[in-house]
Amino acid sequence: MTQDLLKFNNDKVLVEGLSKEFSAEIEVPGDKSISHRAVMLGSIADGNSSIYNLSVSGDNLATVAAFRKLGVNIKKQNKKEKSASSKKDFIIEGVGFYGLKEPKSVINTSNSGTLTRLIAGMLAGNDFFSVLSGDKYLNSRPMRRIIEPLRLMGAKISGRDGDAYPPLAVSGGGLQSIFYEVPVPSAQVKSCIMLAALYAEGDTVIYESKATRDHTENLLKFQGYPVIVEDSSSGGSFITVKGRYAGGLNPFDFRIPGDFSSAAFFIALGILNKNSEITIKNIIINEKRTGLLKALKMMGADVDTVIKSTSPETAGDIRVKYSDSIKGITLPPEIVPDMIDEFPVFAVIASFAEGKTTVTGANELRVKESDRIKSMVYNLNAIGVDIKELEDGFEINGNPDLKCAEKGLPKKLNSFGDHRIAMSMVIAGLILKNAKLEIKDINCINTSFPEFFDTLNSIIK
Ligand code: S3P
Repeated sequence: MTQDLLKFNNDKVLVEGLSKEFSAEIEVPGDKSISHRAVMLGSIADGNSSIYNLSVSGDNLATVAAFRKLGVNIKKQNKKEKSASSKKDFIIEGVGFYGLKEPKSVINTSNSGTLTRLIAGMLAGNDFFSVLSGDKYLNSRPMRRIIEPLRLMGAKISGRDGDAYPPLAVSGGGLQSIFYEVPVPSAQVKSCIMLAALYAEGDTVIYESKATRDHTENLLKFQGYPVIVEDSSSGGSFITVKGRYAGGLNPFDFRIPGDFSSAAFFIALGILNKNSEITIKNIIINEKRTGLLKALKMMGADVDTVIKSTSPETAGDIRVKYSDSIKGITLPPEIVPDMIDEFPVFAVIASFAEGKTTVTGANELRVKESDRIKSMVYNLNAIGVDIKELEDGFEINGNPDLKCAEKGLPKKLNSFGDHRIAMSMVIAGLILKNAKLEIKDINCINTSFPEFFDTLNSIIK
């Protein structure tokens, strides 16, 4: 008889400790970052693109809806087939660089920072008026970081509260190329400028002192667009994007590999659950995304990867095994951008490692879907983890035999509306043996990984 370790009640879940050992093989949905870019760049390609395994998370469906609103025909493939995977196959009828239409109403960017910032760059190049607005979390995320470079390119763009936040209003067209050094390590800012650069007069050069995820570069190159990436001697890169390239953008056929950031929760479960092992198939293994694997290897975890394809993105299988003697580490700050979305689940892993883990240089965690430093300190504290908040990170004194104080059970936790906090605390609840955790506000998980609980149940039931 299997026991239900997850009990749902409206927007809450009660999680019990897992006592089963498992050996599992799973797949997770298509990568969210790549799915956004595939829809955006497919929409302005010259012809039809076929995309397989697109993420159908709330964030990505918001991008599909946004481009439909801009006049692009985006169809689901294999309508008659009912299999789960065919629901994720789409055909995009690209309209070319100048085929987007002025939207008749506000574009809803939902919870998605990637959609908001990337589409703003594209709209800045288009000669029409548009407004971008999302949910209460999105409309509190900083936008000056894109408004400043877009204005330098000549865009007319403004935002709420003196250009700090969305809603954003854009009157596009007439852009010039720039040289721009991105002041914060952000692939969203870099990609925003790159998409605006497609419409600018002349070649735009972007410098980032620490190279961030390069999916925009990879997809543009795959589409035959002239983009040059040169590594700088100090670990950064120069990206040159040609403006108004007469050759246009080629349409493409692309099977999107699984999302590493979704896989990370199962990597954590496999490493922390006694005598267990998990293989995650067909996952993106782009090294600007897999900093978590580097950190785990430094901690002594048993992690293996097999690369199976390299274009337009490196992808393959990841296998992890229960690692009973992982040790705390001082995380080298230079790998922070390569694991920026994995800190909530990394903090859970560090909580069960032996000794101290220190993370610094991670200020960007303060401006994600929630202030992820505060959110994790609150939740891990509540279950008895010795965690200290630092201005730009955190410090955890891990304990492989972590137990909650009996008082106040079940422990009441809060996702703060942040999908990755919610999923990380579900994993913590399965590993923690003596306590039930009640996590509230879990519907946000749908923004990135609606299949999370089904995938989890396929392993733990
Ligand atoms: C993303 C970039 C990162 C990441 C986000 C997705 C992207 O954000 O945290 O989840 O797809 O470009 P920043 O650019 O703000 O670091």
